[in-house]
Amino acid sequence: MRKPFIVANWKMHKNVRESVDFVNQIKSKLPDPNKMEVGIAAQAFALPSMVEAAGKSGLKIIAQNAAAEYSGPYTGEISLRGLSDAGVSYVMLGHIERRRLFGETNENVHQKVQAALQRGVTPIICTDETMVQQVVNNEIHYVFHQLMTVLHGISLDQIKQVVISYEPSWAVGAGQHANPTLAEEGCRLIRQTIAEYYSYEIADKIRILYGGSVNPNNIKDIVDKPDIDGVLIGRASLDLDNFLKMISNA
Ligand code: G3P
Repeated sequence: MRKPFIVANWKMHKNVRESVDFVNQIKSKLPDPNKMEVGIAAQAFALPSMVEAAGKSGLKIIAQNAAAEYSGPYTGEISLRGLSDAGVSYVMLGHIERRRLFGETNENVHQKVQAALQRGVTPIICTDETMVQQVVNNEIHYVFHQLMTVLHGISLDQIKQVVISYEPSWAVGAGQHANPTLAEEGCRLIRQTIAEYYSYEIADKIRILYGGSVNPNNIKDIVDKPDIDGVLIGRASLDLDNFLKMISNA
C-alpha cells in the first residue's frame, strides 16, 4: 500500500511568524502518520523554525528548491547541506514555476535530484504537461522525455526513495477546476513510464502526487483515483481551516 501524501506548497507566501503559527496550530490535528503523511513546503528562511515547531508531530517540512552544488560560491542559492542540517525531510525539485519563470531545465533538475539523494533529502520530482500536448501529441513520449532526462542514471535503489508529482500547466494556479480524469491519466502515464524504465514492482511502490487547482470540493475525487497517491496544494493550502478540511476530505 502506498501511503497518501498531502502537501501544502506555500510558494512565496507567509513569513516566519505566520509559518510557525500555522505549524503550531496544525500539529495536534494531523491524521495518524502511519496512515497518511502531511507536509508543508515553505520559503527557505522559515524552514528551521518550522522543523523545530513541528517537533515529533510527524509533519514533514519541505523545501521548495535547492542547488545541485553542496557548498561554494553560489550567491543566493539554497544548499542541501543547510537543508539536511536543519532537519528538512523533502525537497521539491523542478516545480513548473521554477522551470517556467527561472529557466530550469531537465538537466538542472536531474543534477539537483542526484545531489538531494546523495545528501539524504528526499526529492519530490515535479513534472508538468500541457493540456494541448496531452490531447494532440503522443503524451507518452512527452512524459517519457521529461521524466527520463531527469531520472537518467538514477539507480534502482535511489528511484525507490523519490516521490513524483504531476502538475499540468493548464491546472496550476489557473483557478480552473482540476479534472480528476486527466489528472489520473497523467499519473498513470508516469507510473507506466517508471514501469517500463525500471520495473512494474518499483512503479507499483512509487508515490505519484497530482497538483493544480486542488480544493476541498475536488480533493476526494482526485485522491480516489488509483494512480494518484496524494496532492500538492497551492492557494487552497494557505488557510488553516481550508487545509484541515482538505486533509479530512482526502
Ligand atoms: O505545487 C502546487 C501548485 O503549483 C498548484 O497550485 O494554486 O493551483 O493549487 P494551485
